[in-house]
Amino acid sequence: MDGVIMALNDMFLEELRNRNDIESVISSYVNLKRQGRILKGLCPFHNEKTPSFTVYPDTRSFYCFGCGAGGEVITFIRRIENYDFVEAVKFLADRAGMAMPEDNYDDSLAKHRQRILAANREAARFFHSSLMSPKGKAGLDYFLNRGLSMSTIKHFGLGYAPDSWHDLLNHMRSKGFTQNELFDADLVKRSEKNGKTNYYDNFRNRVMTPIIDLRGNVIGFGGRVLDDSKPKYVNTSDTLVYKKTNNVFALNFAKNGNPNSLIVCEGYMDVIALHQAGFTNSVASLGTALTKEQAGLISRYADEVILSYDNDEAGQEATKKAIRIFEGTGVKLRVLKLEGGKDPDEIIKTYGKERFKALLEGAANNVEYRLLRAREKYDLAFPDGRAAFLSEAASILAGCNAIEQDVYASRLADEMKVSKEAIQTEIRRQYAKRKAAERKQEFEKIVQETTVPKDEINPQRKENVRAAKAEDILLASVLNNPEFYLKLKNKLDENVFITDFNRRVFAVLSRRIEDNMSIDFSVLAGEFSPEENGRIAKFLAMKKEISNTLAECEDCIKVLIQEKQKKSVVDPSEMSDEEFLNAFRKRF
Ligand code: UTP
Ligand code: MN
Repeated sequence: MDGVIMALNDMFLEELRNRNDIESVISSYVNLKRQGRILKGLCPFHNEKTPSFTVYPDTRSFYCFGCGAGGEVITFIRRIENYDFVEAVKFLADRAGMAMPEDNYDDSLAKHRQRILAANREAARFFHSSLMSPKGKAGLDYFLNRGLSMSTIKHFGLGYAPDSWHDLLNHMRSKGFTQNELFDADLVKRSEKNGKTNYYDNFRNRVMTPIIDLRGNVIGFGGRVLDDSKPKYVNTSDTLVYKKTNNVFALNFAKNGNPNSLIVCEGYMDVIALHQAGFTNSVASLGTALTKEQAGLISRYADEVILSYDNDEAGQEATKKAIRIFEGTGVKLRVLKLEGGKDPDEIIKTYGKERFKALLEGAANNVEYRLLRAREKYDLAFPDGRAAFLSEAASILAGCNAIEQDVYASRLADEMKVSKEAIQTEIRRQYAKRKAAERKQEFEKIVQETTVPKDEINPQRKENVRAAKAEDILLASVLNNPEFYLKLKNKLDENVFITDFNRRVFAVLSRRIEDNMSIDFSVLAGEFSPEENGRIAKFLAMKKEISNTLAECEDCIKVLIQEKQKKSVVDPSEMSDEEFLNAFRKRF
């Protein structure tokens, strides 16, 4: 990019930032509370119960003290919407009603993503029309046999991948897609043979479920076999437009259903059957145990989550994990016990939708469910068993609020023929135990963070703690006081830096200042990944911890020079005689 275009770009980005005030943009995702000059809320990028996510209107930045996410408004959109830089800029331009400047940026990646999305859309169309054609009869019969109606099939855009190695490939080629685009969409696979690359369809003889994101893009597919052969599902692996751990199946439909609650199940087929039966607030995690990203996404659209996993060992394990993951999100959690069938689909098919509705209405809440599960583990006919159960029950109740504790303590006392006081004492004991464990864990975490800092953004930090600290202060000083740069210029250039990441940040800063360009965060952001922007936000947020003086900067430069000298000392056994003598003289 030449200077003119760059400058234009800077002006555009400055305007973009002016019209997308960080406070109001973030407010539509995070509930922010003002505290003086800053705003705080629960971080949308990790699970937490006390707010460590901070927005600084003054520097137009945000930073989370819990997970280190940070940046300016564009970075925020990149992270929360899963966009690349150009897409995030477009999104904000749209939001502010601004036109994008013409192709002043490198958007080849964004274009490639658009091609992959277009390929997925065309493939979904192809699979759907195959299902409706004579060669798709086996697929259609399969769906109809499982009780799906034509309108459900259409609603979900279900399809059939023909029993062929090249049908989809040929169709897509005729529509102008390249083999490379299809490969990157994971619609075709490739193999090498005699130095020649062969491409072939990834999905063959499978019924197809498209996965659609919240913006209505087809981002991937799940393809199921028509019989009992293995693997049951072939799914799109992660691509430029699809990350299975970040997406939730059918959320595009469910978020418009009942806004207050979402039913979370295991399988595509469960969700489809539930929607057909009128439970249009059902979603599924995609072929993995629920991730915290998925839980985060779900909790943005629901106040209440009803877990409805399969009624088998694996489903119960998954339920336990999901309970833990949801615990940090603030949603109300209920767990369905699917008596009489292995999954929602089977229950509806065997007993009808009324039965599922009854289960829903009687859904034991989290506490009740866990007490029930605990109870099953013990033989309550014997005092030993009762005592062990009560102790576990108390530990469950230790995590509940006072009202729940009181209600369940009474109930358990009646049932188990012990005094309510005894149960309450045990609850208090378990509570103290849990708190002590939490404190210990927190302490260990702090110790670990302060003594062995693992740093993915600046991996060299670990071996260069003293130098990296000095570099951080220098960068924080220049970012917060750009006028320092010119005053330090004779002593400070990028070669003074020891860690690569910090050197790169400084190089960007100095280049921009030398070229008379803004070092405002919103224009810097484009030069760094969202994770790296987090670090830059941290430098900005360090303003209060540093003295903001030239003297401090000069001290830091001295530290860096010393550290560099230390590093330049080579292992004596590897030195030539001459080097050895030189080093010797220098040091003593
Ligand atoms: P299930 O085996 O419960 O599948 O796996 P299902 O959707 O209920 O399918 P039916 O009822 O047997 O037809 C639950 C989910 O786990 C993922 C899929 O997302 C599936 O919907 N899965 C399962 C895979 O990704 N691969 C597999 O081989 C099996
Ligand atoms: Mn199933």
